[in-house]
Amino acid sequence: MDKLPFSPKNAIGIFDSGVGGLSVLREIRNQIPDSPIIYFGDQFHVPYGPRELEEVYSLSKVITQFLLSLGAGIIVVACNTASAAALYPLREEFPDIPFVGMEPAVKPAAEKTHTGNVGVLATPATFQGKLYNSVVERFAKNVKIYRNTCSGLVQEIEKGNFSGIETRNILENALYPMLENEIDSVVLGCTHYPFVIPLIREIVGPNVTVIDPAPAIAKQTMRILSQDVDSGTNKNQNNTILLTSGPIKEFQNFINLIEIHDVEIQEVKWSQDKSEINIVHKK
Ligand code: DGL
Repeated sequence: MDKLPFSPKNAIGIFDSGVGGLSVLREIRNQIPDSPIIYFGDQFHVPYGPRELEEVYSLSKVITQFLLSLGAGIIVVACNTASAAALYPLREEFPDIPFVGMEPAVKPAAEKTHTGNVGVLATPATFQGKLYNSVVERFAKNVKIYRNTCSGLVQEIEKGNFSGIETRNILENALYPMLENEIDSVVLGCTHYPFVIPLIREIVGPNVTVIDPAPAIAKQTMRILSQDVDSGTNKNQNNTILLTSGPIKEFQNFINLIEIHDVEIQEVKWSQDKSEINIVHKK
C-alpha cells in the first residue's frame, strides 16, 4: 500500500489533466478549509482536450481508483474534459462514491444575457461530450453560442504563461470575433482558464461578464459533504497533498506562482500499461 505523508480519511479527491483543477481546489480550500484534500494533476498526459473521450475515460478511472485507495471519500472531477468523457460512466462504475463534475456554465450565461450572444471557451473533447450538448439543449436553445477551443492555451498555462505574447494571441484570436458578434458573457469551460481571467478581462472589457464555475463547484462539494460523507477533519494541519505525474520541479514552480501555501507535494508515476499509479519514493 502506498504511503502518504499523512493519512487522510474521507478526503476530497480532486483531479485534472494538470494544473487546471487547482483553480477549483483554491475555491474548495476557501469554502471548506478544514477538509483534507488529495489533488492529482495528470501532467504526464496533459493536455486531455485533443484526446479521444475513450482514452480520457480510461485515465480518469485509474486516477479515481488511485485517489480512493489513498483515502478519498468524494471525487471532484475538476476538469471539463474528463467530466465530458467520464462523469456518467464513473458514477456507474463507483455507485457508492459521490462525484462532483464540471459542465460549462452555459445556464447562468443564457439566463443573464441581454444580447442573446454568449461565448464559450473549452477543449474539443468538452464540445464533443454529451454533457455540453445536453446543457445547451436544456438551457440555451434561444441563445446564440460562439465556441472556441483556444488551441495551445492549456499548454501555455501549464508553463505559467498567464500574460505573455503567445497566450495573448490565442485569447485575442478567440475573443475578438466573439466581441464582433456582441457577446455579453464568456463562459470558461476549462478549469485551466481562470488563471488568465485578468488577461481575458483586459481583452473583453468591462461590459462582458466572465463566468468561472469554480465557486459553484466548491459550493456543490460542500453540499454533498454535509449530506453524504463523514468528512475527515484535520484542523490546523497541512491537510492538502498535491500529486503530479509530471516533472515535480515545474509543478512546484507553478504552485509558488499561484501562491498556494501549506501543501505537501508528491511525485507519482503511471505504470507502463497505464493500469495503475504509484507514489515515487525519494531514495
Ligand atoms: N483543465 C481541463 C478542462 O477543464 C483540461 C484541459 C486539457 O487538458 O486539455 O477541460
